Amino acid sequence: MILGIETSCDETAAALVTRDGELLANVVSSQAELHSRFGGVVPEVASRRHLELVSPVIEEALAVAGASLDDVDTIGVTTGPGLIGALLVGVSAAKALAWARRLPLVPVDHLHGHVASLFLHPTDLEPPFVCLLASGGHTLLLDVRGRWWDDVVVLGRTLDDAAGEAFDKGARLLGLPYPGGAEIDRLAAAGDPEAYTFPVARVPGLDFSFSGLKTALLYAVRDLPAVELEARKPDLAASYQRAIVRALVERVAAAGGDRVAIVGGVAANSELRRSIPGAVAAPLSLCTDNAAMIASAARYTDTLRYPHFLALDAYATAS
Ligand code: KG4
Ligand code: ZN
Repeated sequence: MILGIETSCDETAAALVTRDGELLANVVSSQAELHSRFGGVVPEVASRRHLELVSPVIEEALAVAGASLDDVDTIGVTTGPGLIGALLVGVSAAKALAWARRLPLVPVDHLHGHVASLFLHPTDLEPPFVCLLASGGHTLLLDVRGRWWDDVVVLGRTLDDAAGEAFDKGARLLGLPYPGGAEIDRLAAAGDPEAYTFPVARVPGLDFSFSGLKTALLYAVRDLPAVELEARKPDLAASYQRAIVRALVERVAAAGGDRVAIVGGVAANSELRRSIPGAVAAPLSLCTDNAAMIASAARYTDTLRYPHFLALDAYATAS
């Protein structure tokens, strides 16, 4: 089985996946609570927490699968993009394990991982398909022609904020805790999505832009007296969510594929999941960051043997 390790942001995660895509264990320890009082992820705090959690989380994944390290034949680890200090904790842990047990190591791109969340049972989606990858750090429209990262072509990307970032910043304006996407989703269920008309930026091609939207929300919030704001929050959340979802759905439609899939943290959004008819969505537990998707992607990535993986480095930004 393949051991996956993911520490690119504020989730410390380990998972065990078989070579044919069966998920045996998927352990995620979220640091969200630790970072919530700062209103976002503090990179240095995240790195230190990963260091404390990475070994226990791997042990927990092995326990859930009823396995030991003897059963692991490959280690896959996220090498980027993400927070460099956070990534280095996972990469170092993976190198140490692979070195000690003379196992091959697979450097996985986090974005490839999100796409590969669709390649696990029971979803097991076969390319080609158009994939919307919407998370806290990235918003990409992808033409997935095969299961290897080299087979994926970027059709569109955000010019400013990521969709998840728009959710998180909007939530902050509404006084909701971090991370805000799930909070807006919850609050929006009780609101009227037509109450406010928030603009969706029209940028050329298949790119996205979300920065104007949060300014529109800022003005709407500012114009309301404090007492009224409390009562209008569900309407504001619902209308704001509607605008983000509409922007995403329009671009997916413009890409024009017969088969569409959605992945990443924002793919957990209930309105988005309802709004693209026929789309395949990653299971909820595999939308937000996890290591199962990393182990899955490791199956479609070149392996490094000892001692070649010792030179492996992490990278902060997507190439
Ligand atoms: O994929 P992910 O866990 O991390 C990154 O790779 O960035 O995505 C996290 C993002 C956060 O911005 C969070 O607010 C958003 O996904 N998110 C949601 C929902 N659940 C998580 N956004 C909208 N609706 C949700 N239900
Ligand atoms: Zn992610």
